[in-house]
Amino acid sequence: MGNSLLEVNNLDVSFKIGKKTYPALEDITFKINENTIVGVVGESGSGKSLTAQSILGILPTNTEVEGSIKLENDELINKSMKDWKKLRSNEVSLIFQEPMTSLNPLMKVGKQISEILKKHTNDSKEQRYKKTIKIMNEVGLKRSENLYHSYPHELSGGMRQRIVIAMAIINNPKLIIADEPTTALDVTIQAQILNLLKSIVKKRNGAMLFISHDWGVISQVCDYVLVMYAGQIVEQGLIENLLNNPQHPYTRGLIKAIPDFRKRGEALYSIPLRVPALTERNKGEWPYIKITKENAQCAAEIFPEITKEGTKE
Ligand SMILES: Nc1ncnc2c1ncn2[C@@H]1O[C@H](COP(=O)(O)OP(=O)(O)OP(=O)(O)O)[C@@H](O)[C@H]1O
Ligand SMILES: [Mg+2]
Repeated sequence: MGNSLLEVNNLDVSFKIGKKTYPALEDITFKINENTIVGVVGESGSGKSLTAQSILGILPTNTEVEGSIKLENDELINKSMKDWKKLRSNEVSLIFQEPMTSLNPLMKVGKQISEILKKHTNDSKEQRYKKTIKIMNEVGLKRSENLYHSYPHELSGGMRQRIVIAMAIINNPKLIIADEPTTALDVTIQAQILNLLKSIVKKRNGAMLFISHDWGVISQVCDYVLVMYAGQIVEQGLIENLLNNPQHPYTRGLIKAIPDFRKRGEALYSIPLRVPALTERNKGEWPYIKITKENAQCAAEIFPEITKEGTKE
């Protein structure tokens, strides 16, 4: 593994809703080295996207942020809007789940890529065209000269996602953040896109934060994984260690819940707890489970902070 690129330390994000403040992320600490793909896995509402938004400086305005996010030793917290914007155009880029939302339906796809170069470089029109064709080839698009003139709706979902990826890497960002980038695609195309993302990171000596709720996807792509629950990282480590020897009972539960085709016909396991909504979280009372007779035992098994009697230590 290479040098450390991103270091997040004790990051807290809370939402101000009315007069109250609710903890959305707490004590988030991890780092991303060059040449590494770090996965973020967790159930819906666990804080995966907010972690990404914190690094991109695109958190909603009613949030309070504490802690530190350093990109190559440069502190990002409290940067001005202008600096964040610069950062997002040069150093950190985002790939979303649904390509249609990141593409302009009325503009030819090649032009959309070349517009990014127009904004951020002094390249001539011809240079921009050449670079655009090159990057379209690099993301595995065929007949790029023809494709350049297509509109997004004329392409398949997989091709659209390749265009979005081309847009995300054309400025050579140091860090790519991919938030559920293949959820909208069918399995074969998904595998192709995952392989592409992996090869881009390794070839360019880049780094990626890869968000997914799908362990299958995470295990195909990531070197290292953060497991989140209710705004906190419960466990992190190398993917093979987490899969073969998970330390936290919650991670074990998530892994047990991965569907296994060999157990066809058997009922699927799911953790009998749900991630509490933000407004159900009282700061300091993590893991924020409303303990009832029914869930006390399971909660105590999964979160050692909770005693068998259903009270918190
Ligand atoms: N703009 C917002 N205003 C209020 N609460 C928010 C906002 N954005 C996120 N939240 C809350 O913060 C928590 C974490 O949200 P986040 O979007 O990070 O979850 P996630 O892990 O990405 O989930 P999913 O798998 O559904 O995408 C959730 O409880 C969510 O409801
Ligand atoms: Mg999300």
